[in-house]
Order: sequence, then structure tokens, then C-alpha cells
Amino acid sequence: MDEQEGKHLWRIVRLHEFSHFSNAAKILCFVALILLITHELGYTRKSLVLYLPAAFIFIILVTTYVKTETYLKKNEKDPYHPEIGSKRTWYDLNYEFNKKIKWTERVDALLKLSGIHLIEKEVVLSPSGNKGKYEKNLSKKYPNTTFYATDFSLLSNHETSEGNFIYLNQSNDAFHISAYTKQYDIKKIDVIWDIKGVIWYQAQNIDDLTALLTEYYSVLSDNGIIVIDAYKFNIFKNVLSELINSKKTRYYYHEESTYSRIRDNLNDEILQMFDIRLLEDGLCSIAVLSKKPKASNLHASEAI
Ligand SMILES: C[S@@+](CC[C@H](N)C(=O)[O-])C[C@H]1O[C@@H](n2cnc3c(N)ncnc32)[C@H](O)[C@@H]1O
Repeated sequence: MDEQEGKHLWRIVRLHEFSHFSNAAKILCFVALILLITHELGYTRKSLVLYLPAAFIFIILVTTYVKTETYLKKNEKDPYHPEIGSKRTWYDLNYEFNKKIKWTERVDALLKLSGIHLIEKEVVLSPSGNKGKYEKNLSKKYPNTTFYATDFSLLSNHETSEGNFIYLNQSNDAFHISAYTKQYDIKKIDVIWDIKGVIWYQAQNIDDLTALLTEYYSVLSDNGIIVIDAYKFNIFKNVLSELINSKKTRYYYHEESTYSRIRDNLNDEILQMFDIRLLEDGLCSIAVLSKKPKASNLHASEAI
């Protein structure tokens, strides 16, 4: 990356910190505060001391907001890009937040409650695992299961392979799992772990979602499952969290869950391939897509 490009990306990242919803919310709060003070003070000459700086701050906030939105619309391609996007700190902030709410343990317990025991699974693949921290933690808990993590983006600081945790360190596109698993000689996949990953990215497009799930279907073993996040997004908590968000701490999720993004895109083709079950536990809710046997799959399509 040359210096010019570096500066450009840095500018996008900095600008994004002041942008979007949180900025609009800050402006609203500021106006509400001034209106409240105005109500208390009334319009006297003395109160000009307050109103003039307030008007000045207001103009700065609105100008920054408009400038930022225009700039980002023109320049920013993928804010979630793990290395260069403006949300590049997303993974670690989310990981810390999930640690606080004991996300991995609660999801594991939910799976067990519904009769799914990771201890009985031979291979778990996380195709968009980013740094692979969750997967490595799980691999320590289940030493007889092999956990593979990989990602489309080449990450410089992902977890390293160790014991039954293997990070496939090449750019691997989840749309071509069957091709790359052959290359790595992975013969069996029992669980696809796709938390705010590829499915989340592809949900906007029903054809991509169907193509991706068809690829997952083709590589999963019989009785194989896909696990995705499925919490209900709370916009009020999101705005509050955006307002008090710091660079080091996350108070709530900044985006809706994978399941809520794909819920309306689950067409007949997908429902012929998978049974979908929701396992609810607040922010740790998940959806499990269980592979249907081929025979009933055929049967279902004949009936249509
Ligand atoms: C928001 S991160 C989520 C990471 C992780 N699953 C987690 O639980 O935090 C989404 C990841 O999906 C990856 N991704 C997007 N499209 C992909 C694709 N077609 N194949 C593999 N990874 C992809 C991105 O590079 C990014 O690292």
C-alpha cells in the first residue's frame, strides 16, 4: 500500500468514527439539550453567551455529518473489511463483548440442550472465521474434534494452528468450499460455523444466498448442520450503545443478526435442503440449519 493510499484509508477510518447514525443521534441530543436550557433560561441578553457557542457547535456537527456521509458514499467500498475497512476493529470489540456475555459457553449449552453435541462431531469448519478466536477456544474444549477456520481476507494476525485447531491461511472463498477442501484433503465436514460471516454478507441477494447454501449442502456430511447467530436486534439498545461507544468497549451489537438478514430470503429451494430450528437465549440465540437427507429432498421437490 503506498503512502497516498494509506492516507486515504486512514481518512475514511477517521471520518467513519463520526458518521452515520451515532452522529445523527448526537446532533439530536445536542438540540434537545439546548431546547431544554432555552426553556429554563428564556431569551435574555445574558443567554446569548450560551446560544452563540451552541449555534457554532451545531453548525460544526451538521457540516461534519454531511461531509462524512458524502465522502463515505463516494469512497468506502466495504466498511467491514477486516484489515482496511472503517470497522476493522469490529472483530476484537465483538469478541470482548461476547466474552463478557459468555457467548461461546451459552451457544454450546444451547446446542447441547437441543441434542447437538460438538463432542460427537469430527470436523467443524468456519469458512469466514476472521481471526478464528472462537474456534480455537472451542477446539480446546473438544480435543477430539478438528476445527478448521479460514477466511476470504488474508489476515495478518489470525490465531495460529495448534493441536486440533487448524487455520487455513490462504484466501478461501466460501462459495468454493468443495474446491478448497479437496485441496487441503478435508474429507468430511459435520458442522459449518457461520457467525456473521459469509451468509451475513450475502443475505441481500437471494440468488447468492441460495448458491452459497447449495455449496454448503454439497460439502456437509449426512446429518451435517450449519450454525448461525439469530438474536433479535434491539434498535434502542443499538443507538444507546452507539452514543456511548468507545474505541475499546462495545455495549451492544452494531448490526442485526445473520438470521434476521436471511429470514425473508429463505426460499423453497433452501427449505428443501435444510430444516431450520431457532434456539433462543437472548443475544446468544442461534439458528441451526440441519441438512435434510437427499431422498426426502428429492421427494419434496417432486411434490412441488
Ligand atoms: C464480520 S466478520 C465475522 C467474523 C467471525 N465469523 C465472527 O464471528 O466474528 C465477517 C468475515 O466474513 C469474511 N467473508 C466475507 N465474504 C466471504 C467469503 N465469500 N468467503 C469467506 N469469507 C468471507 C470477511 O472477510 C470477514 O472476515
